[in-house]
Amino acid sequence: MWRKSLIICFVLVALLIAYSDARAARDSFVKTKGSRFMINGRSLYFNGFNAYWLMYMASDPLTQDKVTDTFKEASKYGMNVARTWAFSDGGYRALQISPGSYNEDMFKGLDFVVSEAKKNGIYLILSLVNNWEGFGGKKQYVQWARDQGQYLNDDDFFTNSIVKSYYKNHIKAVVTRVNSITGIAYRDDPTIFAWELMNEPRSQYDSSGKAIQDWVAEMSAHVKSIDKNHLLEVGMEGFYGESMPEKKQFNPGYEVGTDFISNNLIPDVDFATIHLYPDQWVSGNDEVQAEFVDKWIQAHINDSKVVLGKPLIVSEFGKSSRSSGYNVGARDKYLGDIFNSVYSCAKTGGPCGGAIFWQVMAQGMENWSDGYEVVLEQSPSTTDIINQQSRRISSLNN
Ligand SMILES: *[C@@H]1O[C@H](CO)[C@@H](O)[C@H](O)[C@H]1NC(C)=O
Ligand SMILES: *[C@@H]1O[C@H](CO)[C@@H](O)[C@H](O)[C@H]1NC(C)=O
Repeated sequence: MWRKSLIICFVLVALLIAYSDARAARDSFVKTKGSRFMINGRSLYFNGFNAYWLMYMASDPLTQDKVTDTFKEASKYGMNVARTWAFSDGGYRALQISPGSYNEDMFKGLDFVVSEAKKNGIYLILSLVNNWEGFGGKKQYVQWARDQGQYLNDDDFFTNSIVKSYYKNHIKAVVTRVNSITGIAYRDDPTIFAWELMNEPRSQYDSSGKAIQDWVAEMSAHVKSIDKNHLLEVGMEGFYGESMPEKKQFNPGYEVGTDFISNNLIPDVDFATIHLYPDQWVSGNDEVQAEFVDKWIQAHINDSKVVLGKPLIVSEFGKSSRSSGYNVGARDKYLGDIFNSVYSCAKTGGPCGGAIFWQVMAQGMENWSDGYEVVLEQSPSTTDIINQQSRRISSLNN
């Protein structure tokens, strides 16, 4: 009799523990509430960095330490979000060799990135395909369909049913991947902050925005049908389109087939992003470019808060050492100005969750240089500014 009640008691306690563990696990995914990010019932403001190259370096035992070192170094300066590529389609050391066929060594590299991020307290935003040719992108997907006898241009990526099915399969392969190091499926892993549909979607052939609008709706629903835990964003640069034509005055003088408002209003899209490259987008002197930057950020802050009611991440910005008049002081000022805008937005209850600059590289990656790279160990004045931003923005978390 005693033994029986004791056993029942144990079972009840075990169930209670299992239940609260499951709850804790569920709570620890990043969520949104109105225009804020939340984690475990608290607001989440953060500072972060881009490093598109992580999987590549992680997939080779000789260069894996660049990933570990980068995460360690970044977290020393208070950064806790990294945005990186979960794609590499066709070509040299591809993740996806051909539609649906994967290189296990590369996937193990991505597993390593996820597992090292977790160890260092860093959340990951994983992008699923590129608009551009780097690491394959939409051009490679369309080429795979052409190889099957389809007549297509690159922007048929957004509409052709064969290409869309290839891409959907890639989403499924990544989202359901079981990490070979941690044993946790990606879709169940709170280390992942969010999925990104595409790095900088653009369509040259459909400036009305309909192609990308329909594609975002279809693909965001596809991701959510496989993974209800994680947040999702589109990967947009922020160009305005037809749904609110009066906003086009904030564009740098042209459109790219996206619509910041209507694309981000799609219910399965959890938050908005903007990128900014005034040195590439805007002609004119520093003053003209600075004015563009200020308006670009303010307009998207206003719209995220008022029209979308969703959080906003400034997810790419940087200063290239190849731009005219470059020096480290100018880079530090540029980053500092954007950090100021994001911080004061967050501090005053605005929709900014954080800023993710482009980009961090590890030491010894000189031949990967794109002009924008910050090698943390070699950039004391820049890391100082990054560190200050991390400390003050995280002080808003409560
Ligand atoms: C953003 O909203 C503020 C406050 O309503 C307003 O003063 C400002 O002009 C707006 N800026 C842009 C670029 O829309
Ligand atoms: C950089 O150099 C390394 C070693 O020489 C090489 O393996 C790698 O492919 C190069 N990367 C690029 C982007 O050229």
